[in-house]
Amino acid sequence: MLATDNPRLRVSRGKLQLKNPVLSASGTFGYGTELQDIAHPEHYGGIALKGITLKPRSGNPPPRLVEAVGGVINSVGLQNDGVQDFVEKKVIPLQSYNTTIIANINGVQLEDYWMMAEKLEGSPIDYIEINVSCPNLKEGGVEFGKSPKSIAAIVSGVRKRTTIPLMLKLTPQVTDIKEIIKAAEDNGLDIVTLINTYPAIVIDINTKKPVLGNIRGGFSGPAVKPMAINLVWEARKATKLPIVGMGGVCSWQDAVEFMLAGADAVAVGTWHFINPGIALEIAEGLMAYMDKNGFESVSEITGYTWRQYNE
Ligand SMILES: Cc1cc2nc3c(=O)[nH]c(=O)nc-3n(C[C@H](O)[C@H](O)[C@H](O)COP(=O)(O)O)c2cc1C
Repeated sequence: MLATDNPRLRVSRGKLQLKNPVLSASGTFGYGTELQDIAHPEHYGGIALKGITLKPRSGNPPPRLVEAVGGVINSVGLQNDGVQDFVEKKVIPLQSYNTTIIANINGVQLEDYWMMAEKLEGSPIDYIEINVSCPNLKEGGVEFGKSPKSIAAIVSGVRKRTTIPLMLKLTPQVTDIKEIIKAAEDNGLDIVTLINTYPAIVIDINTKKPVLGNIRGGFSGPAVKPMAINLVWEARKATKLPIVGMGGVCSWQDAVEFMLAGADAVAVGTWHFINPGIALEIAEGLMAYMDKNGFESVSEITGYTWRQYNE
């Protein structure tokens, strides 16, 4: 049996039910099938698919990705074929995989999220991840994620239209993460996922122009990890809901660190571009860590450090 299927890695808190605590972060694993020769979807507890919108979008002008010290800055701008195509084509080949499927939905208006939830209801996906943290949209996106009022309206509207469990993807650009989580939880949220990227600009000193076609993008990768861990720690204070932590996960050690801070599961994003086989490596590392440290299951790692300072 592969470590990824070992029952000691099972995650079971509230609506978060995963065979192991390693997810793919949306936007770094395509629609699940593209990478299957180098990164098998079944190695993951769940795969969050590339973000979708109500209508097809052509995305931002190139270049869309630039490296920086400790990470990358992307401004893909949610290029996608829209929710209808997603339901009719993208989800179908994934049904045979032994993993959970997460649809990542994005809106420029509040109502976009509600209409997409209606379209997804009845489709074979396991979770809807409401993305209120995309920094690469001119309207909506991350602006919704900073306002408890918008969060309440989006989550309650989506909740009314679907029975599918709901994740909310938070931006690190919040003044008070507790207020944001409370607004979502009061309106039917099931799971918190965090973090999305940090707004960032890179300038070419020779052309004296921004490198990205969109000027600004979102920064992710190893450099953001300590800040992401900080926000998981704060989120854990705000809620008993399951938390999926991400931001710079590059190894099983990083996964352990997120879990000690309070995450029930982690997602790998940018590091897929360096090591597409990372899910299996994290699962194997978690097994060895549990044996060495006397943990029977991953749920015992979750919040281990956090509890010593907060209970
Ligand atoms: C190229 C790229 C595309 C992304 N697209 C999305 C997206 O469509 N929806 C979303 O919620 N997050 C998106 N993200 C953010 C990641 O899911 C993740 O939250 C972020 O990159 C932090 O994790 P990391 O440091 O492990 O990459 C994208 C990130 C990258 C690098």
